[in-house]
Amino acid sequence: MAVNLLLGLQWGDEGKGKIVDVLTTDYDIIARFQGGPNAGHTLIFDGYKHVLHTIPSGIFHKTAVNVVGNGVVIDPVIFKKELDNLSQFTIDFKSKLLISRKAHLILPTHRLLDAASETAKGKAKIGSTLKGIGPTYMDKTGRNGLRVGDLEMNDWQEKYENLTEKHLNMLAFHGIELEYNLVELQKEFDEGIKRLKELTFIDSEEYLNNAMKNGKSILAEGAQGSLLDVDFGTYPFVTSSNTTAAGACTGLGIAPNKIGDVFGIFKAYTTRVGSGPFPTELFDEDGATMARVGHEFGATTGRPRRCGWLDIVALKYAVQVNGVTQLMMMKGDVLSGFDTLKVCTSYTYKGEEISHFPFNIEPENVTPVYSEFKGWSEDLTKMTTKEQLPQNLLDYIEFIEKEVEVPIKIVSVGPDRKQTILR
Ligand code: IMP
Repeated sequence: MAVNLLLGLQWGDEGKGKIVDVLTTDYDIIARFQGGPNAGHTLIFDGYKHVLHTIPSGIFHKTAVNVVGNGVVIDPVIFKKELDNLSQFTIDFKSKLLISRKAHLILPTHRLLDAASETAKGKAKIGSTLKGIGPTYMDKTGRNGLRVGDLEMNDWQEKYENLTEKHLNMLAFHGIELEYNLVELQKEFDEGIKRLKELTFIDSEEYLNNAMKNGKSILAEGAQGSLLDVDFGTYPFVTSSNTTAAGACTGLGIAPNKIGDVFGIFKAYTTRVGSGPFPTELFDEDGATMARVGHEFGATTGRPRRCGWLDIVALKYAVQVNGVTQLMMMKGDVLSGFDTLKVCTSYTYKGEEISHFPFNIEPENVTPVYSEFKGWSEDLTKMTTKEQLPQNLLDYIEFIEKEVEVPIKIVSVGPDRKQTILR
């Protein structure tokens, strides 16, 4: 059976957690393939709100098995907290949450290096979540990293101490004053490792390929968004992994010809948290309204998200890079009450109008060209069928579908599982 993918098409925070949660009833296995605790996937059901960082969003479903793939980076400290936060639910983690031996570990000193690197960059900082993601992936590609499987080896402690020492030397080299207590950090880390070792470690590529042979259905859950991809995003203001479809192949050990549907999630407008270019960003009352009505604050860091109009040039680019087969539009309800809506359909770039996503999208290079739409005033949050959706919203949806050439199959009208309209 093929593996379906679910990916964010913008700068993250599109609402992937909610949609995975809605879709999990259809799948036997949910697998995370990249990123780490920089992600914050919010799920709301039965009056509960949960934010997951590393654990896949299928964890609340009775039968789904959740796999943390080799492409993910795990911070045992945050992971333990996540598990503790789920203690009110009776979840058998040993059988429902399986961890790839090849997933890399975030050490306390990776977090310190992240902070030092960001401070050293000054104004040019990435706006990292400071979870140690970048330094951990650097150790992975630099072939210095420690993996979950190393915890089962006799020389774990020695390897850990060597890498920590190397990191401390690197910190000294940065010359940035950071306040930390290494003894405390290591104590927390050891507790996290102890908890992690209570879970089941697997050779996840073998597990997933066998599952496919046995007809099991798999959904690969992406984190962050396509415009934060280390290759295709707005480099250097990106994360350190491949957030696009190809990342699912390398992050799970699944061959490209085993990929089936690619579900692309986007918000009806655009948000971004952290630094970096954002052509359709709004600095006026409209942007403030989106932020207020949409509760646009980072699920991991609590930072306010920057808001702007939908950018179809960027959306088309993400659809193309990922081979998206179905779209899911989130937060249409947030746009209720705007008299006029704008959608960016092309850019003016070096005096020319272009419709592709160019190398430079900084304000000095790119000016968005907009099409305007009539807004709608109806409250969408109580709507349950597509027949109830206002005509102006349907016009907005149909315009996007025509531009992007992919159908919008789900329209989400609120954060709860139930506020999901199928088309
Ligand atoms: P890092 O991945 O923590 O190094 O952060 C790099 C950039 O990606 C920063 O601009 C972050 O704000 C952004 N970022 C990382 N993870 C997420 C996410 O899950 N949602 C939205 N933005 C993210």
